[in-house]
Amino acid sequence: MTDRPKLIAGNWKMNGTAAALAEIAAMADAARDLPGHVTVAVCPPATLIDRARAAAGDGPLVIGAQDVHAAADGAFTGCVSAAMLNDAGARLVIVGHSERRADCHETDADIRAKAEAVQAAGMTAIVCVGETAAQRDAGTTLTVIGGQLDGSLPASAAGLAVAYEPVWAIGSGLTPTIAQVGGIHAAIRTNLVARYGDAGEGVSILYGGSVKPANAAELLAVADVDGALVGGASLTAADFLAIVRAA
Ligand code: PGA
Repeated sequence: MTDRPKLIAGNWKMNGTAAALAEIAAMADAARDLPGHVTVAVCPPATLIDRARAAAGDGPLVIGAQDVHAAADGAFTGCVSAAMLNDAGARLVIVGHSERRADCHETDADIRAKAEAVQAAGMTAIVCVGETAAQRDAGTTLTVIGGQLDGSLPASAAGLAVAYEPVWAIGSGLTPTIAQVGGIHAAIRTNLVARYGDAGEGVSILYGGSVKPANAAELLAVADVDGALVGGASLTAADFLAIVRAA
């Protein structure tokens, strides 16, 4: 075990309007009573960041974002910069989620640029990596993840977390075995220490993909699993808080 804190981050994806702010308020209330080693964050759609920040009040619930444009400003219709997200109340940003890598054709270089923009704005970037089912079946999981880390990690470990999210585990109800999670997180840690030196020990490595109240405690107890990135189960305060309390 290490003394790294646990970070539990919810990714609401393209879900939520004003009616969902009551869930954020309930999460924020509960976050006030958490033990000091647990940080809880929720990343609503960009349209809700400002109101989520207000709904969370002055408590410790961190509000985050799901994507960012790498540029500071300019002619990028429909895009949002890191400074804009920070101004709206975000303090962390997910970058390189597999849905954006696949659906929006984001490259490792795009993701690195986004992560560095997030850091430059004083926020934390959660850089996502993970293999598809076909890559897993071909035995290339560690090669794929190594390539993603090489290509998409920023130059600095300050304001950085990594999320290991097997693509086949996202939204499927499937998860790797505990031994597989442990092996992959250990490999990511080795990569981070080789890349950043001692600072690599301080980078949180989250597991994501079908984290639920029923499996959270087991996953979060694995060495080098420093938290979770939670999709579907983060949409309601009841499920999300059950996961947070397992940390
Ligand atoms: P899930 O999504 O928890 O619904 O599997 C995780 C994610 O995509 O980050």
